[in-house]
Amino acid sequence: MNLNYQIPLDELSNQVHTIDDVSYLSDFVEQSYYGVIWDRHIPVNIQDWLNKIDPKLIPSFRHIFHKNEVRKSINKIFENSLSKDTQINWLIQDITRLSKLFSSLMKVDYIRLRMEVISTNSCRKFHIDAVKARLICTYRGLGTQYGMSMDGIDPKHFKTTPTSSPILLKGTLWIEDNPKMILHRSPPIEGTGETRFVFVTDPIFDPENEI
Ligand SMILES: [Fe+2]
Repeated sequence: MNLNYQIPLDELSNQVHTIDDVSYLSDFVEQSYYGVIWDRHIPVNIQDWLNKIDPKLIPSFRHIFHKNEVRKSINKIFENSLSKDTQINWLIQDITRLSKLFSSLMKVDYIRLRMEVISTNSCRKFHIDAVKARLICTYRGLGTQYGMSMDGIDPKHFKTTPTSSPILLKGTLWIEDNPKMILHRSPPIEGTGETRFVFVTDPIFDPENEI
């Protein structure tokens, strides 16, 4: 018996849907896709700035915020790190926008926001997150890699989310025992000298029980 149910890439596109217009982001909750990628192009000068900036100047943080406090709080976090130039304002506005889009999509008042500056192999194993849903946007470096595997082993075929395009993925709390599993990982980058800026947001349904 063949236990290795590897799924080809064309089938993967049916499960992780790509949109090019943000107004279709609601497909993530209204349709049965396991994930949605908002394939977007950010301004070239912003991507160029993100690619070149000293990683030490990008703050790492992990915190739960009320959706109405995101802009003020993110402004405060970045205030100590960088001077307020055009590019940093763009980044603050984009983080705020993605947070608002995701909290309204998930119908929550609270969300956890995380920014990670990564230069090692973090989360390199293919996995599914123990959350209801997650939005990941890699502003610099290779994006999240995803594939499908019916038996939970590493997918042989996988795709890489475009840099600066958000990917929304359903987690174990949404999918439960559905056997069709979309697995993802951070791309292995150790030893390449690459540094990634990864922004992650999760919906918080019960803020009192969260750390
Ligand atoms: Fe993950």
